[in-house]
Amino acid sequence: MNKIGVIFDLDGVIVDTAKYHFLAWKELANHLGFEFTEAHNEQLKGVSRVRSLEILLDIGKVELSDEKKQEFLVSKNEHYLQYIHEMGPEEILPGASNLLDTLDDLGIQYVLGSASKNAPLILKQVNLFDRFVGIVDGNSVSKAKPDPEVFLIGAEKLKLKPEQCVVFEDAIAGIDAANAAHMISIGVGDKQTLSKADFNVEDLTEITSGFIKSLITKIETVK
Ligand code: BG6
Ligand code: MG
Repeated sequence: MNKIGVIFDLDGVIVDTAKYHFLAWKELANHLGFEFTEAHNEQLKGVSRVRSLEILLDIGKVELSDEKKQEFLVSKNEHYLQYIHEMGPEEILPGASNLLDTLDDLGIQYVLGSASKNAPLILKQVNLFDRFVGIVDGNSVSKAKPDPEVFLIGAEKLKLKPEQCVVFEDAIAGIDAANAAHMISIGVGDKQTLSKADFNVEDLTEITSGFIKSLITKIETVK
């Protein structure tokens, strides 16, 4: 019987797709006649595709019909997928593969909890798809992060209570979602940005087997 389970965000935790989202959104912004910077792109991390377009249009102070918005959502995704189709296992972020190995060794199962509708494809591109016991992605949820829905469905897939789950996230909305789900939240990236996380690491190379074991003890103690 598993004592804990792990839920991974994808973009920014397992792989860095933000750079490809940036290139595709930037092209759209330029097409619409305004600049879109890396700083602007930060606002789109962890945010759904539809919401990302709304934020981008706000930045450019551009108003569009629903029909045009739909058209640009499709063309942006087609452009983004050109980059995704070029991805391979070399794009897995530092420490991610080792952490999955550590969890396998400890008999701890893990699922994906991502806002991306392209998550299954991305995991296949980097040869990690088969390792997850479940995938919860942008197609499976009705409410986006910071709503906890994505992680609560993840807990169901792990057959665990939310309190037994540990979430790895790089976005503020994701940390908020994990905290709202009463899970242990681990912020991956800038400690100040992710100050609401229960634990913080710069990247997954910092997560040791000893740390995971300490989480098992912690979760056992609160039960
Ligand atoms: C999240 C990314 O994982 O997925 C966001 O952090 C992105 O930047 C969102 O907008 C939706 O992705 P997709 O692949 O469905 O367009
Ligand atoms: Mg992310």
